Amino acid sequence: MIATRIPGPATRAEPARKSANLAASLAALALGTTLVAGPALAQTEVNVGFALAATSHYGVAGEKWKEVVDAGTDGRYSLTLHPSSALGGERDVIEGLQIGTIEATIVSSGTLSSFVPEVGVFDIPFLFRDLNHARAVLDGPIGEAMLAKFEDQGLVALAWGEQGFRHITNNRNAIATPADVKGLKIRTMENPVHITAFQTLGAAPTPMAWPEVIVGLQQGTIDGQENPLSVITSAHLSETQKYLTLSGHVYSPAMILVSKMFWDGLTPEDQEVFRKGAIEAKAAMRAFVDAAETNGEAQLKSEGMEITKLSDEQKAAFREALKPAYAEYAKKYGQDLIDQIIATK
Ligand code: PAF
Repeated sequence: MIATRIPGPATRAEPARKSANLAASLAALALGTTLVAGPALAQTEVNVGFALAATSHYGVAGEKWKEVVDAGTDGRYSLTLHPSSALGGERDVIEGLQIGTIEATIVSSGTLSSFVPEVGVFDIPFLFRDLNHARAVLDGPIGEAMLAKFEDQGLVALAWGEQGFRHITNNRNAIATPADVKGLKIRTMENPVHITAFQTLGAAPTPMAWPEVIVGLQQGTIDGQENPLSVITSAHLSETQKYLTLSGHVYSPAMILVSKMFWDGLTPEDQEVFRKGAIEAKAAMRAFVDAAETNGEAQLKSEGMEITKLSDEQKAAFREALKPAYAEYAKKYGQDLIDQIIATK
């Protein structure tokens, strides 16, 4: 069987995907190309942008998603991964999805609450007991209901991934008590829940998009940042940061998101393949996070970081200092929902 594959657009795909494919097929016919009926007459490139390196948990998830989609659609769709913020910061990429200039992304909860405010409830400090608790909530009815809310924003949320629990790194001092973060110029995500928490602790939170963070740390415009071990290891933060505090102050979910404009152009069968791939990508991301949580501390110590691990009592002191912030969160998200999350087994 001879099957001619017509390459899709080289860079960002336009929203009118179906007509683009039709136009490409007609162009090929006009050039005298023989198209013999077969499963793969044209290939559509699906651009997936994300902030971290190809070797990170996002990269591993992207590769798994690509493998499932490429195989499950016989190559009619092919994912092109754009790691290391190559398509812009997380907010830029999500906006790209909304207007159909980028097809898909894997993102943190950093700016998600700018699109669906309710999702910020998952960013509340010390809300989740451990990874199993967080996964049970996100995979259960509360997490599913949040995913569904993205459709109204021109986005299709296929699955919750994750990054792990966030910890603080900085170049100023070791942190063991809330007093140790006073005045600390700490980069936070552009996330109101995180900003409120660090303000309440008396730090000087500086919201910033990820692509600016490494330079900020190198130049000393910020003292520190906070991210899970999966990020601290894969982004080589030991090269720019001396102190690591294993605070686990907040769980960091991630999301596999697709442009609704792109999604609506897929057949139900192809949508199912993308969805199945996203679920497998989520599992790959979680396996990476599990490994980072197990090995990250030893790795970062061997790379020269000075590590402080907060005890349960020390964490309780941070919770106590955050009391005014908890009152704000309860007003914003509803104590009922917070209690339902806490009660999830
Ligand atoms: O800190 C952030 O902005 C996010 O955790 C990151 C590193 C971009 C991964 O999504």
